[in-house]
Amino acid sequence: MPEKVEVAQSTRRTFLGTAALTAASYQRVLGANDRIGVGFIGFGLIGKQHVADFKRFNDVDIVGVCDTYKPRVDEAIQYIGNPNTKGYADFRRMYENKDIQGVVVATPDHWHALLTIMACAAGKDVYVEKPMTVFIDEGKWMVQAARKHQRIVVVGTQRRHGKGVAAAKKVAESGVLGKIHSVRMAAFRNIYPGFGKTPVSDPPPGFDYDMWLGPAPKRPYQAHRGIYHFRWFWDYSGGQMTNLGAHIIDQVLWVMNVKGPSLVMSTGGRFALEDDGETPDLQDASWVFPGFTLNCAIREANASRGDPGQVYLGTKGTMTMAGGYTVASEMKGDPVNDIPPFQGHPIGGPVYSDTKRTPWIEASSGGVQSDPRYGTGGEDTMAMNERDWLDSMRTRKRPLCEVEDGHRVATACNLANMSLRLGRSIRWDPEKEQVIGDKEAAAACVRPYRAPWDAVLRSIVKV
Ligand SMILES: NC(=O)c1ccc[n+]([C@@H]2O[C@H](COP(=O)([O-])OP(=O)(O)OC[C@H]3O[C@@H](n4cnc5c(N)ncnc54)[C@H](O)[C@@H]3O)[C@@H](O)[C@H]2O)c1
Repeated sequence: MPEKVEVAQSTRRTFLGTAALTAASYQRVLGANDRIGVGFIGFGLIGKQHVADFKRFNDVDIVGVCDTYKPRVDEAIQYIGNPNTKGYADFRRMYENKDIQGVVVATPDHWHALLTIMACAAGKDVYVEKPMTVFIDEGKWMVQAARKHQRIVVVGTQRRHGKGVAAAKKVAESGVLGKIHSVRMAAFRNIYPGFGKTPVSDPPPGFDYDMWLGPAPKRPYQAHRGIYHFRWFWDYSGGQMTNLGAHIIDQVLWVMNVKGPSLVMSTGGRFALEDDGETPDLQDASWVFPGFTLNCAIREANASRGDPGQVYLGTKGTMTMAGGYTVASEMKGDPVNDIPPFQGHPIGGPVYSDTKRTPWIEASSGGVQSDPRYGTGGEDTMAMNERDWLDSMRTRKRPLCEVEDGHRVATACNLANMSLRLGRSIRWDPEKEQVIGDKEAAAACVRPYRAPWDAVLRSIVKV
């Protein structure tokens, strides 16, 4: 049983007072001893992990499980092993179940927003997987629905949890690194030549492809437009920028305490892989945040750098963070001695001094590596995030990875992908959440939903 999460957030407060809840928006207020009824949507790679985790929480009843692929509903029912768990082919039927207080959304990304919005309207709290959205306005609608229906909505960027990240955040905030002016991150792996090409075919028996597509455009079925491989198609996802980038950028925004960038530029494309995916297999992106820049390098066909963690570059020291952290000092000296000597300056040039170089700060390290599922040992941050959601459902206090946090992270990722696809940099107002001076980029912040889902969306939120 995972331990109860301590959230060391000084700003944490009761932000959804139970007194404010209306009967229409909330089925019942959970008491300390009430069991929480949970329903799962999407029993895939990560949905099964969530089910495994929630089976270990002894204050939870797994009331329902829903998937568009019938064999997975059957497998889930068997795996859960609870005769009271109901299987569903259509999430709308599951949302009618009054025994469910919260739903875990672990579908492909293109469903995250609408499933969350509809769950909020149905009076359910939500744990929604990252990346929260595939285009920027979806995040605004999700925040709107969560606030209107006073729901607890947690996003699955679990790496924000954990003592390592909390300790690194304290180091960054202490000022010991001097002025942190830039942050670098990278995600390298080698899956060359890729996953192959899949022809247009009939969906497998029991797979409701139309429901799987949901609000996304209608396209002929091919196996890669489905289970797991949806990640590499623009209709359903944003490639590695949103897949891995969401986790890393979430940590940067958290550690650096910023809302959003003012300028974003990205280049890249699908240069090396020989399969039918669309999203980039290499991408470089830069964001300008207040007081610092963030650089990201993604490679799918070269693993030479691995995932070196995030590197926070300050005037007095450098912090590398990958769960735990290490701090190395910069050297303090007379700037004039950094000019290459060659033959020495002719008369009138700068004069070298004999000042010795000394470290600005002491080297240090600390924290705990996070998440055993990523092979780094240490803390189970996913279980911590799940537990935080359940605790927030009872207390109505702000969880650590809240819907607005997920929206900001997804916005940064989506802006990078917009820049890459438009072939130019994008200026952004993080307060107004608007593109500045670029009509085409502004239009890319929203995409149409396919009928009937467009009407469903508009019946719940202001679009
Ligand atoms: N937090 C993490 O560390 C982490 C790790 C991996 C994946 N993820 C995220 O989890 C999500 C799912 O990824 P995955 O690898 O499990 O995908 P997957 O394809 O293995 O599973 C998704 C499942 O959702 C089902 N589904 C799709 N639309 C549905 C609908 N409308 N109703 C019910 N079921 C529906 C599919 O049939 C499939 O079984 C993605 O958004 C991914 O980014 C998060």
